[in-house]
Amino acid sequence: MKALVLAGGRGTRLRPITHTSAKQLVPVANKPVLFYGLEAIRAAGIREVGIVVSDPREMLVKDPRTGEQVTVMVNSQAEIRAAVGDGSAFGLQVTYIEQEAPLGLAHAVKISADYMRDEPFVMYLGDNLIKDGITHFVREFQQEEPDAQILLAHVKTPSEFGVAELDGDRVVRLEEKPALPKSDLALVGVYLFDSCVFEAVNAIQPSRRGELEITDAIQHLIQSGRRVRSHVITGWWKDTGKVEDLLEANRIVLADLQTEIHGTVDAESRCEGPVRIGPGATVERSRLRGPLVIGAGARIADAYVGPFTAIADGVVLDRCEIEHSIVLERSRIVNVPRRIESSLIGRDAVVTASDAMPRAHRLMLGDSSRVELS
Ligand code: G1P
Repeated sequence: MKALVLAGGRGTRLRPITHTSAKQLVPVANKPVLFYGLEAIRAAGIREVGIVVSDPREMLVKDPRTGEQVTVMVNSQAEIRAAVGDGSAFGLQVTYIEQEAPLGLAHAVKISADYMRDEPFVMYLGDNLIKDGITHFVREFQQEEPDAQILLAHVKTPSEFGVAELDGDRVVRLEEKPALPKSDLALVGVYLFDSCVFEAVNAIQPSRRGELEITDAIQHLIQSGRRVRSHVITGWWKDTGKVEDLLEANRIVLADLQTEIHGTVDAESRCEGPVRIGPGATVERSRLRGPLVIGAGARIADAYVGPFTAIADGVVLDRCEIEHSIVLERSRIVNVPRRIESSLIGRDAVVTASDAMPRAHRLMLGDSSRVELS
């Protein structure tokens, strides 16, 4: 059995973070989302993994200094290759499969046919996080040997997902992001297939959004009389494609944190609850209320860091309060009078209050940034 991990796509719902970075590498509790998936695949006993990556692409963005439109290269492929390498750090053998454009999940399956060589495989969307892993589903698939197995979860907003209609536990119909969903059962981004899926991905036509949908390919399997099993999961699952979902994933993962202090915390600071502090990090005159994680080399001074917060390596927090947030590498939050919460702050960002006249908000934000002031 092999695995196919999808790490391409545009990540439009996580802009501006995804202007410069792959959505699958945004960290949850200071670890890229994608790594949780790779670990789950390894834990299920799979070693050979094909990772589908997108070609480098050009994007038009506004130069913040001149206001002019400039073309930048967004190379998420290089970033993913740099982060995962040959997979040996995960106990995996990774092969990269290049997708020339984001033409859909079924297109990704299509281009992986040579790599799969008729072996059954689990397809894992690299921005999905399943708390209890996938071992159980892989075992079930290996024992029952259906043609395909899908995972479903009850959700509040089914029209944002692929939706299944069941008759008992038999899948009757699947529909991608329907305006009028027939149920609240969303397709989770983990699918198990045998080689007959290749016939299906070759038979279907692009959808309204111009993509070859995996949902349509599975619907094709059902119509051709193939055995498609479903499993409704009860554990926690999230597609981390949006900031609210990413913050929730961060909260769920941090809830299981154990205290581990490698940095230094001075006598004037107080820690409550589970706190993980990376090597070389310093905490001075601050209050930490876990669960929270602080990366290597971060500097926290005269600050409050509240529950469910992930502070990445090299971040500076000085005279500020923050909770339920994710701050990426090397950003600086200095002298901010109001508490920051439910925020995702990218790399090398600066958030600070200034006494300079005139008293005003001075912003330099990337395209598609969001700021909520109060
Ligand atoms: C994709 C699938 C959808 C599925 C979802 C799970 O949607 O097309 O059927 O429910 O992943 O994460 P996307 O996130 O690409 O919009």
